[in-house]
Formats: sequence, C-alpha cells, structure tokens
Amino acid sequence: MIVRQALANGRRLLEEYEIEDAPLEAEILLRDVLKKTRVELYLELDHELSPQQYYAYRILVRRRCRDEPTAYILGRREFYGRDFLVDNRVLVPRPETELLVEKAIGLARDYETPLLADVGTGCGAVAIILALELPESIVYATDVSGDAIRVARKNCQKYEVGLRVHLLRGDLLEILPQSVDIIVANLPYGCNADLPSTGPVSAEPRLAIDGGVDGLEQIRQLCRQAGSKLRPHGHLLLEVGLGQAEAVAILLHGLFPEAQTEIIPDLSGIDRVVSLSLF
Ligand SMILES: C[S@@+](CC[C@H](N)C(=O)[O-])C[C@H]1O[C@@H](n2cnc3c(N)ncnc32)[C@H](O)[C@@H]1O
Repeated sequence: MIVRQALANGRRLLEEYEIEDAPLEAEILLRDVLKKTRVELYLELDHELSPQQYYAYRILVRRRCRDEPTAYILGRREFYGRDFLVDNRVLVPRPETELLVEKAIGLARDYETPLLADVGTGCGAVAIILALELPESIVYATDVSGDAIRVARKNCQKYEVGLRVHLLRGDLLEILPQSVDIIVANLPYGCNADLPSTGPVSAEPRLAIDGGVDGLEQIRQLCRQAGSKLRPHGHLLLEVGLGQAEAVAILLHGLFPEAQTEIIPDLSGIDRVVSLSLF
C-alpha cells in the first residue's frame, strides 16, 4: 500500500460516514501516523507504508468515523500558535476564542503586573497563552471540573508556567482569592435543547457546552459575581454564542450602569465578545 492509495481509502471511508472535510481529515490522520509535514507527505505519495503503519492509520480513520473529534484522536489541538494536550475531559479550544485572548492581551498591556482570571479554563489554553504573552502577569485559572484542572495542569507543565498560572477548582469566581484586573471567560453557552447528539461536539463534556435553557445560565451568574472580583478600572471579557451578545450587554449595562460595555465581532462578523470596562 502506497501513501496515495492509503489517503484515497481513508478519504472514501470518511466520506461514507459523512465526515466533513474528509480529504483533509484523511491527510491529517495519515500525517500523524507517519510523523510527516504536509509537504513531506505530498512529496512521498508513492512511498510504501508498512503493514503496521497502514493498520494504525485504519484505526484512526475508524475512530473519526465514529464521530470522535480529530483533536481527541491526535491528543492535541493548536491554539494561538501553540499545541495543547486535549482529550475527552475538556472542550477542544476553538479558533474564535483567539479573539478573547487577543483583546485580553491588548488590555493587559496597560498594566505593569497584570492580575488576570480565566474562568472555565478547560485545557488551560487561554490562561497559558495569557501567561506566555504577558511575562509579568499572574493568572488564576478556574474550572468546576476536576478533570479539566488535571488536563490544564499537564499543559501548564508543558509550557513551564506553573508558577504564574494558579489552577483552582471551583464554581465561577467564588474560588478567586483576590480581586483581579481582568476577568476572561469562555463559559458554556449552548442552549441545552439544541445540543447535538451526534457529531464531534457530542463527544465533548456536557459541562463544557451546556449553558442551560437559553445558553446564558453560567454567563449571567458570572456577570452578577464580577463586581466583587474586579479591581477599580478592571475589565470583564466574555465570549458568547451567535445572537447572545446583545442580551449579555443589556444585562451588564443594568448591573454596571456607570461602566462601558462593548460588543466585539469576530472575523466572520459574528458578535463574539462582550467587554465591560469599569471606571
Ligand atoms: C466552553 S468550555 C471553555 C474551555 C476553555 N476556556 C476554552 O476556551 O477552550 C467551558 C469550561 O467551563 C467550565 N465550567 C462550566 N461551568 C462552570 C462553572 N460554574 N464554574 C467554573 N467553570 C465552569 C467547563 O468545565 C469547561 O471547562
């Protein structure tokens, strides 16, 4: 079996199971088995695979056919230019969350030694990027899930930020030991009636995607707690889902009438982040 045939077989099987982007998925899985870059793979299309390599590849393709997310199969996902360890205990970080990180970094640059909190840290990607991009910062990373905290701890070890990223298990902001300059949160915002029962998202922890009846249960709760955990002139940055930004902005305006509230769209024009800046 040569690389070209293996790719075609993988693609065909993925297409049979109606997996989106089957050609790309087939390629990513084969590259993982062969440990090749994209360019190397395409330069070696006529190279022979060993029976062991082909067998290993078939196993990965079959896992993907059963709706397991590619990131769980590979055990990693790239976020903000770095690889994070992920498995079925945490949400797979999404590219749209990079906007939240970018905005937080922009705001934090105004502080000499920014103190930040990442609420609902999951695999820790947001907190770790903040710590790496802001070398003088301290970041509290909280999650209610003990499993998520364990995955985040591994990522903190990988990036050697254990001294500046403090992992705390608890509900929203209750566990924070002090007020902070900036709170960022990508909390679950899926409406529970709309959560998919098939596809890769259905393999992710329910705790990470279920935001209650209207998707805003945890976000609402966090907004109510934020006043007591933000320092004067502090900022709150929240990632929200499609069509939720206005409701969150109205809620924040009601809770903090003196503060400035802003809705920030992502690259596809979806209102993705709601920010609150205290005076
Ligand atoms: C959408 S995931 C985001 C994970 C990660 N921050 C990211 O952006 O990839 C939401 C995370 O919030 C956590 N979570 C859900 N409810 C929570 C709560 N009440 N307090 C703290 N964390 C919570 C979940 O366990 C999950 O890890």
